This record gives sequence, C-alpha cells and structure tokens, in this order.
Amino acid sequence: MANFTINSKVRLNSGYEIPLLGYGVWQTPADTCEEVVTHALKTGYRHVDSAAVYRNEAPCGAAIRNSGLKRDDIFFTSKVPARTLSYENTKAQVEKTLKETGLTYIDLMLIHAPYGGREARKAAWKALVDAQHEGKVRSIGVSNYGVHHLEEMEEYIQELEKEGNGKGGVISVNQLEIHPWCPRTDIVEWCQKRGIVVEAYSPLVRGQRMNEKVLQPLTKKYGKSEAQVLLRWSLQRGLVPLPKSVTPSRIEENADIFDFELTPEDMKTLEIDEYSPVCWDPTIIKLEQ
Ligand SMILES: NC(=O)c1ccc[n+]([C@@H]2O[C@H](COP(=O)([O-])OP(=O)(O)OC[C@H]3O[C@@H](n4cnc5c(N)ncnc54)[C@H](OP(=O)(O)O)[C@@H]3O)[C@@H](O)[C@H]2O)c1
Repeated sequence: MANFTINSKVRLNSGYEIPLLGYGVWQTPADTCEEVVTHALKTGYRHVDSAAVYRNEAPCGAAIRNSGLKRDDIFFTSKVPARTLSYENTKAQVEKTLKETGLTYIDLMLIHAPYGGREARKAAWKALVDAQHEGKVRSIGVSNYGVHHLEEMEEYIQELEKEGNGKGGVISVNQLEIHPWCPRTDIVEWCQKRGIVVEAYSPLVRGQRMNEKVLQPLTKKYGKSEAQVLLRWSLQRGLVPLPKSVTPSRIEENADIFDFELTPEDMKTLEIDEYSPVCWDPTIIKLEQ
C-alpha cells in the first residue's frame, strides 16, 4: 500500500485498468467544469467520474480531449440515469454520452441506481453488454446496488450466459457511498469476493465530518488534513475513492495522499459502528421499486 502512487491502477475483471484515485464532478457547474477537470489532470489525476444527470459530460470530454494526454491514459466514467431505465434509453444514453463528450469510447458506464424494478434493471444491463460488445464502452457496472440487487444481476448474467459465452457481461464496478460513517461492509465483501472493484463516492462525507474527534489525533500524527486521512482510509480498504472539489488547492491536497500510510491500529480507530449516509440511499430499496 505504501508503494502506491498517483499513477497506481487496478485491473478490472474486464481486462482494463482503472486509476485508483478518481476525481468526481457531481454539482460541478458545467461552465467551470472544463477548467477544474483540466486542473485535476494537470495535478496528476487520470480518472474522471461524471454522469448524464450531472449535466457536465461535455466539459469533461473537452478537458480530456484538450489535455494533451493520450486518450488511453485517462479513464472516463459516466452513468445511465436511474429513473428511466430501459433497453432503449440505455442504448440512447451511451450514444448521447459519446456525442456530448466527443470521445470515441467510454471507459466505464454504470447504471446510476437500481430503480425501476427487475425488468428495467435487466433491460438496461443487456443494453450495456451490447454497447460493450460494440466497443462503445470498455467496462460496465452498477452504482448504489445492494446485495439483493447484485444477486439479481448475477442470476440474470448466468441466464444470458446460456445463450453463449460472454453474452451476460461482467459487473466490473459497484460505486457506493462509503466512508467510516457508512462502511457498507456487507456489500463491499460481496463485491470483493467476486473481483468487482468498489468505488467510494462521497469519500469526504461531503465535508460534513471534518471536525470529528476521531480524526484529530490522526491529522496530528501524520501531519495530514482530515480529507487526506479519509482518502487514505478509502485506499487502504481496497476502494477507489472519488473525491470532488472545485477548489484548486483542495484538488491538489486530495491527490497528495501517497506519502503516508495509516497503521492497522489507526485504521481500527476508524471502524465506526454507524450507518449514516449523507447522500441518497438506493442500496436499500426493494427489488420491485
Ligand atoms: N453514484 C452516485 O450516486 C454518486 C452520488 C454522489 C457522488 N458521486 C460521485 O462521487 C463524487 C464525490 O462525492 P461528493 O461530491 O458527494 O462528496 P465528497 O467528495 O465527499 O465531498 C465534496 C465536498 O467536500 C469539499 N471538499 C473537497 N475537498 C476538500 C478538502 N480537502 N477539505 C475540505 N473540504 C473539501 C468540496 O468542496 P469544494 O468543491 O467547494 O472544494 C465539496 O463540498 C461526486 O462528485 C460524484 O462523482 C456519485
């Protein structure tokens, strides 16, 4: 872990590599997004996390295309809107994301959340598998899926596999709200057992827990900020954190996490028996919803 650098990547079960540190752009206004993503790329981030509903895929694409970096060196994620899942809408969203960003492929396309019921989720998944076979999307996955949603998808993939090897696709990523006050150990274990990479969204608890007592001794001991300690916790849990900031100094601060390592004892102090999400929580919705 101590050997990790800002360039570290992990191989997904699709065969493609994903940079361990991501940069999130939820609530980043479209008119400043190109500038902040450009700053993130200059700082050394190589992984940008957007979504159709963030309404900033176009400036993300512009920053990537104008960065002077090789396209293959940058990892771009988008997500299919959750409330209108269907085969046709998912297929159309892939085309729309390609058009908006001006990219020739999307590194990772996720189903944003498991709303809409079984048939809608399955249809959306099938469209992602087809988009992957067409080379429009390199890896596919889900977001905000609880274990019951994942088990449903696993069963569906096995069903599709009967039609031929590779017809079902593989879930490469599950993206979830994860931080010490919402560790989601059950879902993380389920995914990690199957080689599914877990991405941690709201890894800074949206800035709402910076004054927590448990963080103070750690910031003092390591000479690092609360944000840096939280991101390090995420990495050391085997997660891919996606911090968001529109502030240049914070963009840099959040990437400066590769020169220290939390000891196992310090990691233990961050084992907090609490389930306090700060975002929406679709992981708990029923399969019919
Ligand atoms: N799949 C999903 O359903 C889902 C849901 C939520 C988020 N996400 C993804 O995950 C990303 C991150 O999550 P998030 O935006 O909810 O929250 P977050 O990254 O936990 O926190 C962002 C907030 O923390 C502040 N901040 C950033 N760096 C800081 C630092 N070093 N010190 C103090 N405050 C700092 C930011 O302020 P400034 O920007 O003003 O600097 C912003 O208000 C999103 O952008 C998105 O890509 C996905």
